[in-house]
Amino acid sequence: MIKPKLFITRQTFEDVIEKLKKYYEVEVWDRYQPPPYEVLLEKAREVDALYTLLTDKIDCNLLQQAKNLRIVAQMAVGYDNIDVACATRLGIYVTNTPGVLTEATAELTWALIMAVARRIVEADHFVRWGEWERLRTAWHPLMMLGVELKGKVLGVIGAGRIGSRVAEIGAKGFGMKVIYYDINRVEWLEKEIGAEYRDLDQLLQEADIVTIHVPLTPETYHMINEERLKKMKRTAILINTARGAVVDTEALVKALKEGWIAGAGLDVFEQEPLPANHPLTAFKNVVLVPHIGSATYETRHAMAELTAENLIAFYEGKVPPTLVNKEVTNIRPPGFRKS
Ligand code: NAP
Ligand code: GLV
Repeated sequence: MIKPKLFITRQTFEDVIEKLKKYYEVEVWDRYQPPPYEVLLEKAREVDALYTLLTDKIDCNLLQQAKNLRIVAQMAVGYDNIDVACATRLGIYVTNTPGVLTEATAELTWALIMAVARRIVEADHFVRWGEWERLRTAWHPLMMLGVELKGKVLGVIGAGRIGSRVAEIGAKGFGMKVIYYDINRVEWLEKEIGAEYRDLDQLLQEADIVTIHVPLTPETYHMINEERLKKMKRTAILINTARGAVVDTEALVKALKEGWIAGAGLDVFEQEPLPANHPLTAFKNVVLVPHIGSATYETRHAMAELTAENLIAFYEGKVPPTLVNKEVTNIRPPGFRKS
């Protein structure tokens, strides 16, 4: 039987590719950089399935031209790069990788909180670039002071899988009071750690650490803007491991320049890769990392496996385990049968 064609938009784990080859005729884009849009379009026109990353723009134009495309399996939990509504109309299945990256992303969030609160990167530079030696002060009561977390208020924006895990670590690990904002009340979190619900503006006014975990949607685009940054405490730290565009970058730069907030820890940016001369790189009280929330061996492998599981389930005519657009099953059954 002729195998359906699958285009994988970046090199991934060899064992996962081998597994997929049992079901699909696989082509892998093997450059380090993402395929340009024109290449993605050309491949989408040729294949039955796509294995995508968050850097691939899967818009309606591409989906409409991809006449044989039946499934877009994204190796990420966020899928703001995919026009899901358009895919659903066209009967194209969209899957993602929720859950398997929750721990890694929550841990990276805490790494950023700790790094900003205790000035870890700045302190490393202080040693490495000879400032410590130059000052000839082995230990000084006022040297490199940061802020303590115990007893402080952690404000979680978006208490879904990752936000809730960050909240749990804050309450149980660091003895912080947790407040959260979400579309829905999260009762288990309130019971489990005594988290309290706040509306967004109230949360921004009360929290010492504000950490963002909402998906990027039209509603969350620039949710943290100039007006909202002004509501934060001057001593507060902003952390973003969700999506860059949830924060208005220009407003954030202004907030940092004018001291409306005390610092920031950022894993995600409106422009990725962030240019090395971007204004954000000028602040000592800002820690920047290159979108590595899920970047552990364990998690990236689990994400690749879940992406493959979705593709294989679809091949077998089953509903993929982590299907995003559940309504698509009413339009077309899973599988490559002609319908
Ligand atoms: P999740 O479980 O869906 O959590 C998101 C939460 O935000 C949900 O509770 C959701 O409510 C809520 N929400 C959605 N829109 C909102 C709005 N307008 N206002 C307030 N709350 C809103 O997703 P997750 O697995 O925790 O992942 C969250 C996001 O993190 C992903 O979408 C992705 O963009 C980002 N992420 C980044 C990395 C990284 O490498 N830095 C890694 C993983 C994830 P509903 O459930 O009711 O929609
Ligand atoms: C990473 O950013 C993801 O959404 O999985």
